[in-house]
Amino acid sequence: MTIFENKADLILFVDSLKSENKTLGFVPTMGALHEGHSSLIIKALEQNDFAAVSIFVNPTQFDSKEDLVKYPRTLESDVALLKQISEERILVYAPPVDDIYGDSVTSVSFSFDGLEHEMEGKFRNGHFDGVGTIVKRLFEIVRPDKAYFGEKDFQQLMIIKKLSEKHNLPVEVIGCKIHRATDGLAMSSRNMRLKPKYREAAPFIYKTLETAKRKFGTNSANKVTEWVINEFANHSLLELEYFIIADIETLREVKRKSKLKSYRAFIAVYADDIRLIDNIALN
Ligand code: PAJ
Repeated sequence: MTIFENKADLILFVDSLKSENKTLGFVPTMGALHEGHSSLIIKALEQNDFAAVSIFVNPTQFDSKEDLVKYPRTLESDVALLKQISEERILVYAPPVDDIYGDSVTSVSFSFDGLEHEMEGKFRNGHFDGVGTIVKRLFEIVRPDKAYFGEKDFQQLMIIKKLSEKHNLPVEVIGCKIHRATDGLAMSSRNMRLKPKYREAAPFIYKTLETAKRKFGTNSANKVTEWVINEFANHSLLELEYFIIADIETLREVKRKSKLKSYRAFIAVYADDIRLIDNIALN
């Protein structure tokens, strides 16, 4: 497995793949890889000759310096996990910050037709400008045929689709199902930072989403939201940041249900100082 630390070498390698008409799937990550990431990489390998995986903790998408500093960096075990998936057909791009940003670590300002102002956009200042900046730059360097993003970050997935559409990027953006631990907790690089009692409490998030889904069949979005807020108000360890039922196209909070539209429930919760997000399709 080749690990590229600078874009010049990677660009040459991708040139050679293209000259041989090989297809390339791309999975951008920030490392601390887990089975959620693996599921995307496996899909990329099923649908392409090669899979490129980037491992880069992107500074411009963090609104909290502390979160950026504490983000786990585990390149050695990441590479070991990738080798188990495939030694021959995976290439890794794990650059230092200056290979991407030079000496100006700043993000470009994007409009994603309002998607960026909902949910995560409200609570994480500048986050989606940072995500848009890094993903666009990575697409330009890696030049994949297809790129894979998890529904775990559903808003991010919709924003990348919008980015690709608005900037005519020659890549097909593919969404992948949320991979969960057996107790239902959505896999996340942040889970490894949870203290045991918080890790034990965290499956409550998905259980609540499942019940909310059931309730949404016969109740208004408002009623379901009130119920969820109340569930968390009574929980001693988990603190709700937001729960929103939104139209999957606009990501706007639903006021009145329509049978013609598709909805998802989105949630952000603090377990101690660790922020966890999850979502579920409702209809
Ligand atoms: P990261 O959090 O490392 O996630 C990389 C990709 O893995 C994202 O597309 C994310 O949605 C997906 N993923 C994470 N956990 C998942 C799970 N449990 N099931 C399915 N997919 C999962 O998202 C980022 O990095 C960054 O914002 C990035 C796109 C790399 C830009 O820096």
